[in-house]
Amino acid sequence: MKKDFLCLSDWTREELEAMFDLCRDLKVKTKAGTPHHLLDGQTLAMIFEKSSTRTRISFEVGMFQLGGHALFLHSETTQMGRGEPIRDTARVMSGYCDGIMIRTFSQTAIEELARMSSIPVINGLTDMYHPCQIMADLFTVIEHKENYRDLKYCWIGDGNNMANSWINAASVFGFELRVATPIGYDPDAEIVARAEKAGAKILYTNDPVEAVRGADVLNTDVWASMGQENEQQEREKAFAGYQINDELVALADKDCVVMHCLPAHRGEEITDSIIEGRHSIIFDEAENRLHVQKAIMATLMERASCN
Ligand code: CP
Ligand code: NVA
Repeated sequence: MKKDFLCLSDWTREELEAMFDLCRDLKVKTKAGTPHHLLDGQTLAMIFEKSSTRTRISFEVGMFQLGGHALFLHSETTQMGRGEPIRDTARVMSGYCDGIMIRTFSQTAIEELARMSSIPVINGLTDMYHPCQIMADLFTVIEHKENYRDLKYCWIGDGNNMANSWINAASVFGFELRVATPIGYDPDAEIVARAEKAGAKILYTNDPVEAVRGADVLNTDVWASMGQENEQQEREKAFAGYQINDELVALADKDCVVMHCLPAHRGEEITDSIIEGRHSIIFDEAENRLHVQKAIMATLMERASCN
């Protein structure tokens, strides 16, 4: 049976930790220039309905390093942009390719794509989740800190796709998470309810100071995500006080690390001095997209090709 990577909570902690182990091995091989053609001759279709720098480049380079090939497909230049149903696209692509990575708006669309494809589908970001990013983030924390499950994580900012995925991660991995969002910008209510039912240790607050006090890992993201550009001005007002800056970081653990999935709006949700400062692991985090996604693709696509 093929398996998809649509959201973290579809996987167990043990399965995700096995991906981290594979990632560690692949990263060493990449740095040493040792070939690791786990997906020799395979093709990944990459469908984009939104912009991307990191996701596009890391998947494309990753497939090449695994001995395969990646196709960049912008929905506007395919028949999808002219309304060809996703279920037809799914069946056609399954006949040509070995895997699909998609960045789109709706989680329901990606679920339909996965249901109708006979090849693995990877979520490269939806309005609901960004699971590959959280895998890279956690792998980066593991590289920088011991016992990643015993740390206190906090999310400061919008209750968006990244926040939702952090909630899933807290639930699957069992670490403590504090989520500080302005009133009216909460994370998805169903995801919150599911995490609560699963016994996740999560504090929700409207106070960034409460969330950050003593925290080991600080995380934020833009205040207006892709598709919300016309809300930028009202969001800037609502999110005043939610900036990760020197004053806020001073309240966290003295050895805390600061993360941001990028792209960042420097001077809005995070300051220059934090991005460039000693707590930042932001550019390691960006690099690890490559290594972690190679492990995800190898796990999904090697498994699929064996069946
Ligand atoms: N963090 C991230 O997904 O970056 P891109 O939008 O550049 O792919
Ligand atoms: N929340 C952001 C993440 C970008 C990587 C967005 O969806 O635009």
